[in-house]
Amino acid sequence: MEKKQTVNPDYVVIKAIEDGVNVIGLTRGTDTRFHHSEKLDQGEVMIAQFTEHTSAIKIRGHAKIMTPFGEMESEKK
Ligand code: TRP
Repeated sequence: MEKKQTVNPDYVVIKAIEDGVNVIGLTRGTDTRFHHSEKLDQGEVMIAQFTEHTSAIKIRGHAKIMTPFGEMESEKK
């Protein structure tokens, strides 16, 4: 039998449009907490997946986000 796929193969691309964009990974499971925060400066790109450890991604700051569902921009507060 085939091994169960634990990582979604899709990627999320985040491109910072301003300095200091935060990409925050939130844990999978019964408690939802931050487990990783990555700071991006303008023009920097992070390519990430949802994994067995990461169920949600929060983005703070102005960034372009590309997912298999479409493109969007987060706004600066
Ligand atoms: N160690 C984390 C994981 O495997 C790395 C990670 C994956 C991550 N996707 C992320 C961190 C999204 C922040 C945002 O889940």
